[in-house]
Amino acid sequence: MKPSGRKVCFMTGASGKLGSEIALSIAGQGYSVCFTWHSSEEKASLLLEKIRWISPESSMIQCNVSKTGEILNAFAVFRGLYDRLDLLVASASNFYKTTLPDVSEEEWDSLVDTNLKGTFFTMQEAVKIMRHQSFLSRIITMSDISAGLVWQNFAPYTVSKAGVQHLTRIFAKKYAPGILVNSIAPGTFTINPDKEVDAEDEMIGKIPLRRYGDPLDIIRTIIFLLENDYITGQVINVDGGRLLQ
Ligand SMILES: NC(=O)c1ccc[n+]([C@@H]2O[C@H](COP(=O)([O-])OP(=O)(O)OC[C@H]3O[C@@H](n4cnc5c(N)ncnc54)[C@H](OP(=O)(O)O)[C@@H]3O)[C@@H](O)[C@H]2O)c1
Repeated sequence: MKPSGRKVCFMTGASGKLGSEIALSIAGQGYSVCFTWHSSEEKASLLLEKIRWISPESSMIQCNVSKTGEILNAFAVFRGLYDRLDLLVASASNFYKTTLPDVSEEEWDSLVDTNLKGTFFTMQEAVKIMRHQSFLSRIITMSDISAGLVWQNFAPYTVSKAGVQHLTRIFAKKYAPGILVNSIAPGTFTINPDKEVDAEDEMIGKIPLRRYGDPLDIIRTIIFLLENDYITGQVINVDGGRLLQ
C-alpha cells in the first residue's frame, strides 16, 4: 500500500459497539484507519469493508493488546503500510462484573492487562512514531466515568480505567507540545437503539439529561478534539451529567 498523504489513524478496539462507530466517523474525517481486532474477525471484516468505501487505504490487523509482543508486531505491520501517524485511538477494552471478595487472578489480569497495560504499550509504540514527526498528532484514550465512581462490583475494571485517565495526563505532559493526549469517558450508552427505554428506568433517573448516550455524542466529542489544538491532558465526561449526582 502506498499512502497518498492522507492523515492516518491507528485504532484498537474498532470492532466494539462504540468503537466501530468511532472508526467510521474518523474515516469520514479524511483519515486512513488502521484498526486492530482481537476475537471478532467477521465484525472486523465487515467494518473494514464499510470503512474502505469512505477511506480505501484503510486496513486491519489482529492483535491481543494484553500481550505486549502482539502490540509491537501490530506496529511493525503498521509501519510497513503507512508513513505517518496522526491519531491513535486506544479503545480496546474488557468489561464484566467481578464481585469482591471472589475476584480471581485470571479476571484481574484479563481486565487490567487489556484495559490498562494494553493502553499503555499501545500509547508507547504510537509516541515512538509521533515524536519524530514535524506536525501535531493526537492520542485519544477511551476511559469510563466509572473511573471516578465507587462501583464495588467492578473493582479491576474501574481501577484500570482510572489508570487510563492518569496515563492520559502523564503522556500529555511528557509529549507536549507535539502530541495532544486526551481521554473520553462515556457514561451509559444505548447499546440497542431499538430497545424501549422506560422513562422511569432507575438508571435514567441518575442522568440529569434524562437519556442514555448515543454513539453520536461520542463522535461529536472526537471531532471536537480533532479540530482543537489547545486542549491536552483532559478527561471529557460524555455522560449527560451523570457525575453531577
Ligand atoms: N459502550 C459503552 O456503553 C461504554 C461505556 C463506558 C466506557 N466505554 C468505553 O468505550 C470504549 C469503546 O466501547 P465499546 O462499546 O466499543 O466496547 P465493546 O463493544 O465492549 O468492544 C470492546 C473492543 O475491545 C476489543 N478487545 C477486547 N479485548 C481485547 C484484547 N485483549 N485485545 C485487543 N482488543 C480487545 C474487542 O475486540 P474483539 O471484539 O475483536 O475481541 C472490541 O473491539 C471502551 O474502551 C469502553 O471501555 C464504553
